[in-house]
Amino acid sequence: GLKAVILIAGPMKGTRFRPLSLDVPKPLFPVAGLPLIQHHIEALSQVDQMREILILGFYPNHEMNDFVQDMNHQYKAVTVKYLQEYTALGTAGGIYHFRDRIMSGNPEAFFVLNGDICADFPLHEMIAFHQASALPDVMTTILATEATKPQSLNYGCVVEDKHTHQMLHYVEKPNSYISSQINCGVYVFSPEIFQVLADKYQQRQRRSETPDTEEPESMWIERDILSHMVTIGRGQVFSTTNWWSQIKTAGSVIYANRHYLKLFAQSHPERLYRATDTQTIGNVFVHPSASIHPTAVMGPNVSIGPNVIIGKGTRISESIILADTSIGDHSLIKHAVLGMSTRVGHWTRIEGTPNDPNPNKAFAKMDNLPLFSQEGKLNPSVTVIGCNVVVPSEVIVLNSIVLPHKQIRHSFKNEIIL
Ligand code: GDD
Ligand code: GTP
Repeated sequence: GLKAVILIAGPMKGTRFRPLSLDVPKPLFPVAGLPLIQHHIEALSQVDQMREILILGFYPNHEMNDFVQDMNHQYKAVTVKYLQEYTALGTAGGIYHFRDRIMSGNPEAFFVLNGDICADFPLHEMIAFHQASALPDVMTTILATEATKPQSLNYGCVVEDKHTHQMLHYVEKPNSYISSQINCGVYVFSPEIFQVLADKYQQRQRRSETPDTEEPESMWIERDILSHMVTIGRGQVFSTTNWWSQIKTAGSVIYANRHYLKLFAQSHPERLYRATDTQTIGNVFVHPSASIHPTAVMGPNVSIGPNVIIGKGTRISESIILADTSIGDHSLIKHAVLGMSTRVGHWTRIEGTPNDPNPNKAFAKMDNLPLFSQEGKLNPSVTVIGCNVVVPSEVIVLNSIVLPHKQIRHSFKNEIIL
């Protein structure tokens, strides 16, 4: 059988995502109507022989329990479990800490997926490539994709032998250009990887080489495994041209929403909204409990959460509206994320700037800009309205971020409302 690990880190990470993760833990943020990592779980559950999916992170158990229960109901072919790290153990420390749990049932291999990515995951192809490898005793298969030269510096960079696909070089976030093949944060490991981690662990304890800022038990796939695979010649590279992106910023959820909706149009058309009495454009997801006035126009690329109410004549495109939010009549929402239980009045306009990758550059990825520029100005981004916010009638909110529980009194643009 096979297993999988999804790495989700915890509440102190992902500061660029913060305006959104104040409402919902980042891995559970709904994209195309499903919590972000449900897309991982769905892709994994379709892999032959997949038995168990272990979610690893340091969010408290109670924040993950309901989700995990729900996943076990929805995907009967696999068991889903959350394993809480007592503190941040890095990308490999948790895997080593829970090694007995991962190896119980003797899986032949296991996937590891970063939780903060979105993709048309080529998992069948990857496991087939791992199992039929030309490389003797392959221990690691890494998923790679092409980025632009300048963007590659923000990722792990991989060099492969073009014929054998053996991994010849790996550098995490290099200072200067190495390769435009980047690490997607998706791996297949053979069980022998635990010997590598055990050796690394012993070595660190003996030499006490842990930096003061890190837990003694912490280890990293990027630092402790991948370059070692290069040294011993047991890593290989699987390249993909499928859609793939990181989810680091609020803007990336709008981009991910669009692509996951497009995948649904092919694989699960029944999930998309097909109301006969409402006008929709392109791909739209509407939770069955939401109520949308027949004269409202939705789309393209809109996801509407549970119990949302949308008034007459309202126009929404390229946006995500979270649960229990209501939007009045004749309002316009474009390139925006609206948090839970927010109330928007009538004739209100909420608009942001898309953060899409440069369409004129082949292989360009999204730029995950921080909230503020060097000069301390808010970078243009999708507009984010936190949960429990009241936006009155007839105001305009442009390129702004509004933190939860605010009562807006007038129009503004390019501001962060704390
Ligand atoms: N369980 C757990 N514990 N997960 C963690 C921890 C931890 O202590 N620290 C990070 N993670 C998870 C994050 O949630 C994320 O899914 C993944 O591990 C990697 O996160 P980062 O360490 O922030 O790395 P990164 O996203 O900047 O870069 C990684 O991903 C890129 C692709 O998105 C690297 O693997 C790069 O090489 C790669 O290109
Ligand atoms: P994570 O989202 O967990 O990585 O935490 P963070 O949002 O606090 O960012 P991190 O500590 O990884 O990086 C700090 C800063 O480095 C960010 O605000 C960016 O300016 C820059 N940075 C890091 N990774 C990337 C990336 O992938 N792309 C771009 N454009 N900048 C990055």
